[in-house]
Amino acid sequence: MTNPLVRAVARLTMRPLRMLVRPNRRMNAALWNAQYALGLWRYLDGMSDGGMPLSLIERWAPDPAILDLGCGTSANLPLAPGRYRRYHGVDISRRAIDQARAIGRPDTSFEVADIRTFDTTDRFDAILLREVIYYLSETESATLLRRLPGMLTARGRILVQVYDVAQAEELLRLVRGSGLAVAEELSTRLGSGPSGIFLVLTATAEPAGRGSGDAGDDSARP
Ligand SMILES: C[S@@+](CC[C@H](N)C(=O)[O-])C[C@H]1O[C@@H](n2cnc3c(N)ncnc32)[C@H](O)[C@@H]1O
Repeated sequence: MTNPLVRAVARLTMRPLRMLVRPNRRMNAALWNAQYALGLWRYLDGMSDGGMPLSLIERWAPDPAILDLGCGTSANLPLAPGRYRRYHGVDISRRAIDQARAIGRPDTSFEVADIRTFDTTDRFDAILLREVIYYLSETESATLLRRLPGMLTARGRILVQVYDVAQAEELLRLVRGSGLAVAEELSTRLGSGPSGIFLVLTATAEPAGRGSGDAGDDSARP
């Protein structure tokens, strides 16, 4: 299904259904699987914003370990071999994860899990939340954002991507209320689609002189 109008209508009708099933993990997973089966998200696979977000991550963490929460098929990520140490993708949809695994990129691993309860003892230089925060309630998003610093290396940062800039203010409020600091805000464009924003978040405000261009290696390797 590639027609943007059909997609928009499907999204509108899907929204109330999503809110209804969201509290139930199994029903939520089933609904996402159905959406992938219908090809509703196939258009995302061909969409990327140049080298983003890898080129952005490399500014503070060359050779990064990346955790991608709500990764979908991950096909739109520019994961060129040699430019990342490892990548772990997590999604509630088994269908999306099957497609992600089928790409067969080196040093990648995938897991079917609900990011609202997902936990790990590993540490990552970048945690991605690309186009997924909308699908959690405000309370769920805040709880998740508060937990994420515990999954970061010392140099690690969180990247939140939203295409809907109208939601940026609400997102910023949520981020600040969760005790995270905004290190950078950048605009992004997925293919010829709408422009959106990337927020780069740190666990706490950064000391002076440790700006976005600082790629010092102080990582605790996972
Ligand atoms: C719009 S897609 C974005 C996919 C990918 N991040 C991208 O930007 O191309 C949203 C993804 O979030 C996943 N998702 C939604 N709620 C989730 C949850 N509670 N736990 C894990 N994944 C979830 C969906 O299965 C879907 O793959």
